[in-house]
Amino acid sequence: MCNPLNPGGTVYRKEELEATLAFAEKHNLLVCSDEIHCDLILDEALTHIPFASINERAAQRSVTLMAPSKTFNIAGLGASIAIIPNPKIRQRFIKVKRGIVPGVSLLAFTAAEAAYEHGQDWLDAQLDYLRGHRDYLMREINALPGLKLEKIEATYLAWIDCSGLPVDNPHRFFEQAGVGLSPGIDFGNRQFVRLNFGCTRKTLEEAVARMKAAVLLL
Ligand SMILES: Cc1ncc(COP(=O)(O)O)c(C=O)c1O
Repeated sequence: MCNPLNPGGTVYRKEELEATLAFAEKHNLLVCSDEIHCDLILDEALTHIPFASINERAAQRSVTLMAPSKTFNIAGLGASIAIIPNPKIRQRFIKVKRGIVPGVSLLAFTAAEAAYEHGQDWLDAQLDYLRGHRDYLMREINALPGLKLEKIEATYLAWIDCSGLPVDNPHRFFEQAGVGLSPGIDFGNRQFVRLNFGCTRKTLEEAVARMKAAVLLL
């Protein structure tokens, strides 16, 4: 699972995590919870709840993945983290990743440590900036005929419903208009596109202007 959700940008509620745990227990499943976007909560009324934190039973069947790469824009300095409370699962993880998953370099480790220790003010400023982008996108996208954008609770991803557009491939349609979005089919629905708004306001405004011009010409 991915919490906050990519591409939907929703934050899992406690009841949803409990239901996931009940399902995992019923079917004897391990839960791999990708929580890489957990620091990017845009809705101030919400809090990220790690799956493994809901109770000890959840912790014992969990692998939680986190990283400073999205939060602090340091994906080039790979320092991702797997938190595995159960020692048997941890040993298995260490064994299967050997020779496949590279280790963390000293530079990446130092960058991650610096970001987590000293980056809070920067992150707060970034979150404010992203909240402005989210509000702008909600207004602009929902004002266009055929497009719909639900409230984005977290992440810098906008999952745009294009099912009201008279086009059969919205990804290609917008690409031809000069906007490179992620195709919804990569996430299971070709009537959607995913827009990454982790960029400057100027770039975002240019993208929206191109999308607007293309849609209004239909
Ligand atoms: C939901 C999600 N999880 C994990 C990753 C991988 O991040 P990293 O390679 O920095 O650990 C990405 C990157 O695109 C992502 O979108």
